[in-house]
Amino acid sequence: MVISLPEKFLTSKRKFEHIEICLKHNVKMREKSTGFEDVEFIHRSLPEINKHEIETSIDFLGHTLNAPIIIAGMTGGHPVAKKINAELAKAAQDLSIGMGIGSQRAAIENPSLAYTYEIARKVAPDIFLIANLGAPQLVKGYSIDEAKKAVKMIDADALAIHLNPLQEALQSEGEIEARGYLKNIQRIAKELDVPVIAKETGAGISGEDALLLKKAGVAAIDIGGAGGTSWSGVESIRAKNRGDKLGEELGKTYWDWGIPTAVSTVEVAEAVGNYLKIIATGGIRSGLDVAKALALGADAAGVALPFLSPAYKEGARAVILKLKQMIEELRVAMFLVGARNISELKQSNVVVVGKTADWLKARGINLVKLSKRRK
Ligand SMILES: Cc1cc2nc3c(=O)[nH]c(=O)nc-3n(C[C@H](O)[C@H](O)[C@H](O)COP(=O)(O)O)c2cc1C
Repeated sequence: MVISLPEKFLTSKRKFEHIEICLKHNVKMREKSTGFEDVEFIHRSLPEINKHEIETSIDFLGHTLNAPIIIAGMTGGHPVAKKINAELAKAAQDLSIGMGIGSQRAAIENPSLAYTYEIARKVAPDIFLIANLGAPQLVKGYSIDEAKKAVKMIDADALAIHLNPLQEALQSEGEIEARGYLKNIQRIAKELDVPVIAKETGAGISGEDALLLKKAGVAAIDIGGAGGTSWSGVESIRAKNRGDKLGEELGKTYWDWGIPTAVSTVEVAEAVGNYLKIIATGGIRSGLDVAKALALGADAAGVALPFLSPAYKEGARAVILKLKQMIEELRVAMFLVGARNISELKQSNVVVVGKTADWLKARGINLVKLSKRRK
């Protein structure tokens, strides 16, 4: 006998499948990388600073983060997700960094699941915490009321509206009505009393789309670029698990789709960097990647997948260890380019070579100005 779950539990079930797949399988992009391997700082043999003077804190949308790192939104909507959110939030609170939670759709559809998200604010009363809803749900009828509910649920400091047309296009149950994303983002950005962040989930944002998002009134863009976790990969594995051959093959074909994180960061910074905050997420795996993302124009970097398994299997201590390593790696990069603080790091000289340079040049971006900023 096949027992089908009631509608209100389907999102929760899908959320659990996503976590399970990300924990058990290799869901990294296969051929495409972030492009950070093509980005090099100009080493300073004369840094002319003392390493202990280095200050990594930033002001981000009115909040102070001790390091320019945000644990990117991943989960909620399932009892397992409650544990993961709790451990991630403990780590974020301990180190005073930012954190996002996963899409709150599951709890909007079924309020009895709200506790799986609320836990983040309970254990981390002071952090910069980001609520999360999907643009497809806004188009399907979510209004300012649902946006306010999501923010209130975790007493959030900002709302991320995620954009994931790639994943929606590949899911058999995907929401493929993308007409109206912008109009809805604009409405929410205008009416909500916390800042709105437009957030991709692994396929990157172009300069052109960044300009449209700026017009729509968002306060920040999380570029969610390609080179890290592949959502096509996750959907391909999910399709395989349920015997859906077409879904499996589609996911394989698009496994590496998207604008690499380094490229997207430069494009978005060129287009809107003077006006909006930029978070670079997607394949950020070390403090050196964080440093490169900031030198390319980001204000903070987001990291998702590397924290999932430590949070689930070992708890907050393991997440804190990983984060401390990243922060120390960032400090070393800052020392080696003579940057006492994050604004100086953002002005340091970087060269962009190889495929990433080819891509950016083909898009008309002048790379010399990145390599000759500081005398
Ligand atoms: C298990 C998992 C679940 C995710 N769920 C969401 C989500 O609900 N909403 C969202 O905006 N992004 C979600 N993401 C995307 C991440 O925030 C991030 O953009 C993406 O994973 C790329 O970063 P990474 O390479 O560091 O993993 C999820 C990522 C993972 C690994």
